[in-house]
Amino acid sequence: EQMPLRLTVNGKAQQISIEPRVTLLDLLREQLHLTGTKKGCDHGQCGACTVHVDGQRINSCLTLAMTTEGSNVTTIEGLADGDQLHPMQEAFIKHDGFQCGYCTPGQIMSAVACIREGHAHSPEEIREYMSGNICRCGAYANIVEAIMDVKK
Ligand code: FES
Repeated sequence: EQMPLRLTVNGKAQQISIEPRVTLLDLLREQLHLTGTKKGCDHGQCGACTVHVDGQRINSCLTLAMTTEGSNVTTIEGLADGDQLHPMQEAFIKHDGFQCGYCTPGQIMSAVACIREGHAHSPEEIREYMSGNICRCGAYANIVEAIMDVKK
């Protein structure tokens, strides 16, 4: 049975109809065609699906879409300001914060939250905060550098 859901995604109001068991990740990717948010493990283990709900980072694969009723969701597609990349996106490019790029949207959403929530005072603190975002290419050192650069 389909249920009505209203939420705002990247500044745009959405009124949709979904099955109650659909995750926010599947809603974003399959119904709203926002495929920047990645499905790595689908079990809360990799961070590839990280988005912001009302400014808080969450694993969208562990979040039922219905629980975001009335919320403001931001995905990687909503970070840039028109043609102007977000400073964190610029920093990932400058510091080679990715190789294959699959984990990058989730890494960047976590990185933005890391600074916003005040957990970017040292490389150690950043590594701890970012520990839920797995990178199989091992770009960790460069990601920490990118975050330190935006923080300063
Ligand atoms: Fe959600 Fe891996 S896809 S944590």
